[in-house]
Amino acid sequence: MENRSNHRITVCISCRHKTGAPDSACRPGFELIERLRAAIDLAGDTIGADFEISGTACMAGCDRPCTVAYYGSRKATYLFGDIDADTDVGDLVSFARQYASLDDGWCSSTSRPKGLSGKTLARVPAAILVTEPAEVLQ
Ligand code: FES
Repeated sequence: MENRSNHRITVCISCRHKTGAPDSACRPGFELIERLRAAIDLAGDTIGADFEISGTACMAGCDRPCTVAYYGSRKATYLFGDIDADTDVGDLVSFARQYASLDDGWCSSTSRPKGLSGKTLARVPAAILVTEPAEVLQ
């Protein structure tokens, strides 16, 4: 079945643990994706939107592993860093719920889940004119 979700969470699968050796094969993004998918599934309809969760290569936050991005049609994009699969999944689910509820995805650092405090690497306004097909904008 085709996934028509317009909300996405993308996890870097190239990040390595900070404490691991530079050539470590341990890539926490894979575990994070698995746990996040399970938690989002468990939360079900309380999230308010379907999220497609996938992995991607480096998102240029390599000094703050693991990085996670939220984006959606006509919404601000967020990039979080220092995300730990053992401690941050609950806050990521809470932020998914908050993000789904916001028309433009825009929110302040103080309104985001406390566990994500200091972990926001970027908040980028929506770029509707660049990303939407012309017929949608008429
Ligand atoms: S390796 Fe994950 S952000 Fe660069």
